Amino acid sequence: MTPKTTSLIELPTDLDCTQLPQHVAVIMDGNGRWAKQRGFPRMMGHKRGAQTLKDLLRCCKDWGISALTVYAFSTENWGRSMEEVDFLMTLFENLFQVELAEMVSEQVKLEVVGNLVNLTPSLYNAIDRAKNATQHNQGVRFTVAINYGGRQEIVRACQAIATQVQEGLIKASDIDENLLAQHLDTAALPDPDLLIRTSGEMRISNFLLWQLAYAEIYVTDTLWPDFDRRAFHHALLNYQQRHRRFGKA
Ligand code: FPP
Repeated sequence: MTPKTTSLIELPTDLDCTQLPQHVAVIMDGNGRWAKQRGFPRMMGHKRGAQTLKDLLRCCKDWGISALTVYAFSTENWGRSMEEVDFLMTLFENLFQVELAEMVSEQVKLEVVGNLVNLTPSLYNAIDRAKNATQHNQGVRFTVAINYGGRQEIVRACQAIATQVQEGLIKASDIDENLLAQHLDTAALPDPDLLIRTSGEMRISNFLLWQLAYAEIYVTDTLWPDFDRRAFHHALLNYQQRHRRFGKA
């Protein structure tokens, strides 16, 4: 009989369930190259990438990983062709609408971080509806970064804190790491334990600059649309071989 773990629905037996990252962050890179390798338009890579993301979210649920944060659109991505930007925005909007019922039934708690004011009203509304509908869910905390930049997020946090100082609500000496973290978009989340970047680039690319301070970084050459359960399994095995020292001896 084939062991159940072969299908990777359950946590693979070579992973220690007590040493799993609680929060995994992902830079989903390589959609364009995946499409190009197959002679498809870039948009096909993004469509396929969205399916990969859905599978990973389900995998997090199956394997007991409580938070997943993904970089879907950076502040720099506005520099892509108008056709690609429009496609991505429409893809996000459709996904937030089409997948909402399943997110609700699967108990996914959706959060979207980044500067959402520049998004189209229809995408903004789709995000708002999906966030509201899932806010009391108790399952995987799924955070999508859209129009997100780590530096911009830190600047926004500093501006909010400076306003409080100006209004006399707090003193400058009250500002510490904890207060700053509370003003980031991710205030409600623990810092990621593991950052995965696909397609081989060795960069953080302005993603969660503050929050990734002590994350383990795993880079794979696998292109995002090909990052399946087996690839995630490999990343987690690699993570479990690390000795996290948090700067100590
Ligand atoms: C990077 O690949 C990928 C993106 C900029 C878009 C990622 C978006 C998705 C996977 C859809 C997710 C949907 C939701 C709702 C979160 P690239 O285009 O930079 O690839 P390349 O480096 O090979 O050109």
